[in-house]
Amino acid sequence: MKALIITRDTQLQAEIASQGAARVPPLAVAAAYPGMRDALERPVPDNPHLVVLDASEVEPADADLLERLAKHYPRSCFMLLTRENQQELLIRAMRAGVREVLPLPLVHKAFHEALDRVAAAAGMSAMRDGKVLAFISCKGGSGATFIATNFGYALATLAGKKVLLIDLHGQFGDAALYISDQKPTMNLADVCGQIARVDGPFLESCLVHITPGFGVLAAADDPAHGAELKPEQMDAILRVARHHYDYIVLDVGRHIDAISLRALDNADAIYPVLQQGLPDIRDGRRLLDIFRSLGYPPENTRLIVNRYDKGGKLRLQDLQTALGAEIAHTMPNDYLSVTDSVNQGVPVMQLARGSAVARSLADFVELVTAHRVPETRGLFDRLFGRADADA
Ligand SMILES: Nc1ncnc2c1ncn2[C@@H]1O[C@H](COP(=O)(O)OP(=O)(O)O)[C@@H](O)[C@H]1O
Ligand SMILES: [Mg+2]
Repeated sequence: MKALIITRDTQLQAEIASQGAARVPPLAVAAAYPGMRDALERPVPDNPHLVVLDASEVEPADADLLERLAKHYPRSCFMLLTRENQQELLIRAMRAGVREVLPLPLVHKAFHEALDRVAAAAGMSAMRDGKVLAFISCKGGSGATFIATNFGYALATLAGKKVLLIDLHGQFGDAALYISDQKPTMNLADVCGQIARVDGPFLESCLVHITPGFGVLAAADDPAHGAELKPEQMDAILRVARHHYDYIVLDVGRHIDAISLRALDNADAIYPVLQQGLPDIRDGRRLLDIFRSLGYPPENTRLIVNRYDKGGKLRLQDLQTALGAEIAHTMPNDYLSVTDSVNQGVPVMQLARGSAVARSLADFVELVTAHRVPETRGLFDRLFGRADADA
């Protein structure tokens, strides 16, 4: 994809160029001009796919230049970068057919999301739009790894989805072993170490494949290694992963570090896993407090009650009240099937298809896939009022 960049701000120009170059496929700079007049006087030969215009110094009176520019590049998508209080210009821009508006300073996540939309509109990507679902254990042993791994397998085999599971345990990650006997040759640290190379095929080549549609990226096994991982690398991996998988399942483990935190920031839904006991509730509450203080939307955090016992002293309603979060799903206690599955490293659906826990996983797959909400945020939301949600 090629872009024409119009800005007087050389730093911003370099920032756009470097963010664009890091994309897959890359966004190349066809030309960079300081102002709209230059772009009109010295047109770029092949219509660029994208025109990025820094409008921070554009006055409403200059809007006719913008209209002329839009006519000049009829097949280009226009992206406007604006300051606050440029409403008048924005309305003129919308009339001129500008499709993307982003606030300055540039928020990289929002910039890449906009580029994804531009690429999709230009038919430049047969890309998926994967969802990131994070499973986190309220207390060690609650069952997050068992559920994340077996849910990933169920999504791939029952719903035919392409699924990637990332084991985010900083230490002693063992997700792959719950469902396979293969030893991972590559792990998260290796992928981060070669982050500039990461694209769909490279990511695929680093996985332990459980089925053709379901792969596991093993945890960075060496904690010393893990300390070198950078949160930005997590962003990059998830960005690529979203384009190549329908679902990215995260096994977050119990300890939140800088890497898993960044992964959680990216999650579309977080499923804290807990059992019906006071220690789980206590720790669950702490976890949910953290999520609240981080500003995560409460509706994106949904509980999974594992080893659920209908006759238990603590009812589901009590759990919901104590934790102030909704319960998305309950998994039955199925000691024999689960222990066999975990010990043999074979997914429970494969080992005990008719078991209560396998049926429960199938229900959960239906719940998640049926509730997939399409992206509904329109241009207007992004223009007015909702820009902060991108930050
Ligand atoms: N629904 C269940 N029924 C019976 N046993 C379970 C169930 N879920 C998990 N377990 C058992 O609990 C143990 C701990 O689960 P695990 O997924 O490793 O917990 P976590 O990742 O939250 O620390 C597993 O070894 C498994 O045997
Ligand atoms: Mg675990």
